[in-house]
Amino acid sequence: MAQHSINLKTAETTELRSFEAMLLAQPKSPDVASALMKIHDELAAREFPDLQYQDYLRARHDSGKVGAYLEVGVRWGDALKLARPGCKAVGVDPAFDIKVPLPSAPELYAQLSDDFFFEHTERYTGFFDLIFLDGLHEARQTAKDIYHALSVLKPGGEILVHDVLPISLAITTPSQKTRFWTGNVWQAAYAFCDRDMPLKWEFVDAAPSGLFRLYDIDPAFRPSRARIMQRVAEAGAMTFADAPALLGFLRGL
Ligand SMILES: C[S@@+](CC[C@H](N)C(=O)[O-])C[C@H]1O[C@@H](n2cnc3c(N)ncnc32)[C@H](O)[C@@H]1O
Repeated sequence: MAQHSINLKTAETTELRSFEAMLLAQPKSPDVASALMKIHDELAAREFPDLQYQDYLRARHDSGKVGAYLEVGVRWGDALKLARPGCKAVGVDPAFDIKVPLPSAPELYAQLSDDFFFEHTERYTGFFDLIFLDGLHEARQTAKDIYHALSVLKPGGEILVHDVLPISLAITTPSQKTRFWTGNVWQAAYAFCDRDMPLKWEFVDAAPSGLFRLYDIDPAFRPSRARIMQRVAEAGAMTFADAPALLGFLRGL
């Protein structure tokens, strides 16, 4: 790695972005990956200074209104642990590795989300008050997860999607290239920002990479899959000069 350094805390954001560009132009190495991760963490801390996504989820669970919770993409259980005792919680992840106590004693399905929804949608139709989607960070898969989640959502329930506000274009690659990685999930969120659909949405400025909230959804609403995939493709064809331009676009939807 070239011998450049930067003081993360005192550098201007424009300097951080220039340093990121310099690192991205370097040959890949563990040192470069680790330096990039630090830059991305700092950019995220500046973009979202007020709220962590876990705090947002915790407030939902602590409201006492989440009787049934579904999480797609569980990993170590850091979000699933927020479901309270008595909540009927379900976690789906083909490779979870739970490292924390889970007070809700959830049912865990070691499956891909597609397989879970194919096998269990009938059992859970209209069941969950809150669904948190944080599985594969790829737009078409996330769009499918949202689509399937509509069938298992309780009337009046809400869907939250993670990783929709990327702080750098470099972290939006469909397959993972950087440690801090949102993938192109934002394109799936865009697909559901459609005024013709009977639902409401908002983007939540929660660190490290934003949440997309779908609520006030007509319980009978099942979008056309073709329409959703067309919207995902439309988003994929958009170009942005930089991350602030993309963030401004998404926040304006
Ligand atoms: C970012 S981690 C989830 C973190 C967790 N939600 C939290 O907040 O602590 C993403 C997880 O999604 C899982 N995953 C990847 N593809 C998936 C799929 N198609 N269906 C379900 N889970 C998937 C991975 O195994 C990984 O554990």
